[in-house]
Amino acid sequence: MSKGPAVQKMFDGIAADYDLMNRVMTMGQDQRWRRFVAAKAGDPQGGWVLDLATGTGDIASLMEKEHPEAQHIGADFSINMLLEAKKRFASQSINWQASDANCLPYKDNSFESVTFGYLLRNVDDSLKVLQEIHRVLKPGGRVVCLDTTPPTKNILYPFIRFYFRFGIPLLGRMIASDEAAYSYLTGSTMDFHEAQELADIFTEAGFTAVDYKKFMMGTIGVHWGMKR
Ligand SMILES: C[S@@+](CC[C@H](N)C(=O)[O-])C[C@H]1O[C@@H](n2cnc3c(N)ncnc32)[C@H](O)[C@@H]1O
Repeated sequence: MSKGPAVQKMFDGIAADYDLMNRVMTMGQDQRWRRFVAAKAGDPQGGWVLDLATGTGDIASLMEKEHPEAQHIGADFSINMLLEAKKRFASQSINWQASDANCLPYKDNSFESVTFGYLLRNVDDSLKVLQEIHRVLKPGGRVVCLDTTPPTKNILYPFIRFYFRFGIPLLGRMIASDEAAYSYLTGSTMDFHEAQELADIFTEAGFTAVDYKKFMMGTIGVHWGMKR
């Protein structure tokens, strides 16, 4: 069974507390990674750009501020997340659209860049979603992905694992009153692709010049690539 409907319902439920939870959980680092994503997406030269799984809209907002002359779409399948985005960034010129990453309602070769934060961990088939993103990118267009990465088994591993297993769900209970949603987050992180494995899936989906950088003691990864 697809995990899509449960994921959609979960994000609809935590939309109001999502931003505060993000800032606390990442110790205020999350915007730094999003700025790195926006920088890697490059200059769209006035063309169309898409921030997929936009959630409450942070990456779309950063992109719009950097490139006000471009045409911006922030897309997500959670309506409540989109409503938060619309409220937060009402003064910015961004089209907020409901769409599912598995089947994008856009023509082939439409976008100069497609960014997405914390999407792939939530889908059934990363390769299929990356192929769909590849389809809607223009030749020469850039893809940039921010997501969690399973922590490397080094000396810090027990502490990171403890924070993931107990710290984040506890914060979820205190801030978002939803321990289950944040237990899901840590579980889906532990089960997600290793950074190199994910880079290989980008290549399999057709992207070139694929590379990545890790942040936050190796628990966050930003991957990027290009459509030939
Ligand atoms: C953890 S939030 C990230 C939001 C935002 N990108 C950020 O950086 O904070 C993940 C988002 O992905 C969306 N999402 C998950 N699966 C999706 C899918 N198949 N299609 C569209 N959006 C999806 C969820 O609704 C949620 O808003």
